[in-house]
Amino acid sequence: MPSTAAAAPVACVSAPLSAVDTDLLVVPCFDDENPSSVGGLDAATGGDIARAFASKEFTGKTFELFATTVTDPAWRARRLLLIGGGPSGAHRSELARQLAAAGGIAVQCRRAERAAFVLRGPGDVVEGAQAVAEGLTLSEFNAGTYKTRDAARPNAPAWTVVVTDQASDVVGRARTAADRGRLLAECSNLARELANEPGNTLTPREFARRAEALATGGGVEVEVLDEGRIAQLGMGLLLGVARGSSEPPRLLVFRHDPPGLPPGPVLGLVGKGITFDSGGISIKPADGMDRMKDDMAGGAAVACAMRAISLLQAPIRVVGVVPATENMPGGRAVKPGDILKSAAGKTVEILNTDAEGRLILGDGLWYAQQLGATHLVDVATLTGAIVVALGKTTSGVFGTPPEWVDHVCRVANRAGDRAWAMPLFDDYRDQLKSEIADFTNTGGRPAGAITAALFLKEFVNGRPWAHLDIAGTAWSEEARPYLPKGPSGVAVRTLAELAFTSGEWNFTA
Ligand code: BES
Ligand code: MN
Ligand code: ZN
Repeated sequence: MPSTAAAAPVACVSAPLSAVDTDLLVVPCFDDENPSSVGGLDAATGGDIARAFASKEFTGKTFELFATTVTDPAWRARRLLLIGGGPSGAHRSELARQLAAAGGIAVQCRRAERAAFVLRGPGDVVEGAQAVAEGLTLSEFNAGTYKTRDAARPNAPAWTVVVTDQASDVVGRARTAADRGRLLAECSNLARELANEPGNTLTPREFARRAEALATGGGVEVEVLDEGRIAQLGMGLLLGVARGSSEPPRLLVFRHDPPGLPPGPVLGLVGKGITFDSGGISIKPADGMDRMKDDMAGGAAVACAMRAISLLQAPIRVVGVVPATENMPGGRAVKPGDILKSAAGKTVEILNTDAEGRLILGDGLWYAQQLGATHLVDVATLTGAIVVALGKTTSGVFGTPPEWVDHVCRVANRAGDRAWAMPLFDDYRDQLKSEIADFTNTGGRPAGAITAALFLKEFVNGRPWAHLDIAGTAWSEEARPYLPKGPSGVAVRTLAELAFTSGEWNFTA
């Protein structure tokens, strides 16, 4: 089960480094500064820092580590860990988040019980404190939940964020920001646990149960529709994808409706919830198919963002919709050439059963609008083509109007989910032409991520809509210092932070 139990908070203090009471003090140092000039570190370590700098054992290169002992008995910390921050000019909150995550992983390997991370470099202290709390919390994610032989991963330490030389009101705001960052990253970690869960345990029904538990636990109103209710709504696209599986589909519906809120915009979040994508009759090659257990990462992001939105009391109505099903090649599976009818009434000719995400999202987008959504964002591991276009670090953002897309991109990048706006010219729409139905479900290889987005656009009725294709970013295939192999939790913080920006939504579709 996802661990929804509240973890210890990340403390936040303002103190000189010598006064920080901790086992292991983590200090970022940049490659254009001499670390022996920082906060009395060199004297406190009996000259060890200057020695390491002179011998180039530590140069400040990004994520470089150097651990040593504090020998000065007047200092309260016993051990010191320098972490390289690269050029100091490049300091932004995203770097602070990554350094904290990398530092957090390194500290866990060193098995400290209490550790402190020092926020350094230019930039806003309050924003930085939130980013550091996020990074430290993200470092606690454990992907090895089913290991029975390896020793359990060492416990995460109790964390303190250290800000130096700050007025008490700034420290107060930094404290609030650290709490917010902790909560947001805990929700990211819950989404990672869901995405990491194998297809045999996380069936659509089990996904619904767990998402319901974690959202309800955060105060979100949750409704789970079964196959009967889904049929009543006429969701032929979701039912069509589900036909190939012996597991029934589910439709997860979340509502955040703060009491006493005057009428205003309703944010609609829609997430792809394919609990396993075999490709169906257009079956995928064996290589890498195991990864398709995470094809519900977008749906997990929506469920966990709803939890964060409710716990942080976002001052806006939000509805979340997650269509959940397997995509399997059973005897009753949808076949190439079949035609499905969507809840919105549009007909779709299925050319490739592996283009299933857009189908279930079509019905999901329709339902979010039925529930009153005025501004839409969907999140999906939708296309291999976006991985070709943007690689594994950046999500593609599509939609309309451009102001909404740019806004979502800005919020995403601030939240540490790198995102980039992609074009959505109508010219590409020709690739979806069908002789027999309203349109097809694939547009061939060219511009595959764009035609997928244009398919979704068919289900958006003239309101601001943004689509995040997270196929490249939901799962890290190679460990990075700040991100181990496995699920990344992408888009959780983006969606949650977006719910706090409605004051800026001064445009229409
Ligand atoms: N879930 C996949 C997309 C995907 C690919 C996610 C790689 C993560 C990593 C999606 O359902 C899919 O199969 N898309 C097809 C669409 C094609 C058949 C038009 C693709 O991208 O190949
Ligand atoms: Mn597929
Ligand atoms: Zn898929």
